Amino acid sequence: MAGLTVYAIIRYRRRPGDDGREPPQVYGSAQIELAWTVVPFLIVIILFLTTARYIFAIEGRTPTAQALEVTIVGNQWWWEIRYPKLGIVTANELHVPVSDPANPIQTFITLQSADVIHSFWLPQLHGKTDLVPGKTNRTWIEPLVPGTFLGQCAEYCGLQHAGMLLIVTVHPRDEFAQWVAAQQAQAADALAARAGREVFVSVACINCHTVRGTPANGVFGPDLTHLMSRATIGAGVARNTPENLRAWVKDPTSLKPGALMPAMKLSDDKLDQLVAYLVTLR
Ligand code: CUA
Repeated sequence: MAGLTVYAIIRYRRRPGDDGREPPQVYGSAQIELAWTVVPFLIVIILFLTTARYIFAIEGRTPTAQALEVTIVGNQWWWEIRYPKLGIVTANELHVPVSDPANPIQTFITLQSADVIHSFWLPQLHGKTDLVPGKTNRTWIEPLVPGTFLGQCAEYCGLQHAGMLLIVTVHPRDEFAQWVAAQQAQAADALAARAGREVFVSVACINCHTVRGTPANGVFGPDLTHLMSRATIGAGVARNTPENLRAWVKDPTSLKPGALMPAMKLSDDKLDQLVAYLVTLR
């Protein structure tokens, strides 16, 4: 547009010797008006039909027998990730197998919300889909190359809307099977970390968090059964290191202002024991 404008300005500028009269003004050409009404109308119809066809084809995709089923629940401000058929519950890091055209395996995702509207968005893998309280949405992905892909909540959902990172790891098939086996394993129960385990089950942690095989079966916070298999804590706000875990348990808002987990107000001794236990949850 800018180029055409510049061209017209130069090409039709006032020149010495112009007679100063307006060029001929043309009104009321039925032919031209019909052309510029009918042609765009046809273009819109064609685009509409093509788009509708693809939308129905994409949304109507039914899971094959070997498709992976995942349920993702948006929370302020983290993602709960469940694999109902595999008995796995994790958070903030989605693991899926790679697909290939000769042997496709899609991941079908059920999207729900525990509180407000969030939006599930993996820019490289699919379009945005909202997670709406009281409503269940479905989408699916079929990544064709292994690797790591980043997602982010894409609907403003409160103070830590920006602190809802979602990390997707696309594994080769055998590697995915290993990940599944590791996640299905019971939580570690190291003798050396017994003191910390005692602290964990004696305070309010267990009201919100689950560690399979312990009295902790809360569901308001992330499942911690294999906490250390995750690269980050707080949905991507900090690396999952013992130092950051300690700072997080001491006061989550030091790393994530507004985080809904309360500061645990433990003595330094108990905090050290608790973190020593948490880092065994591989
Ligand atoms: Cu969740 Cu924005």
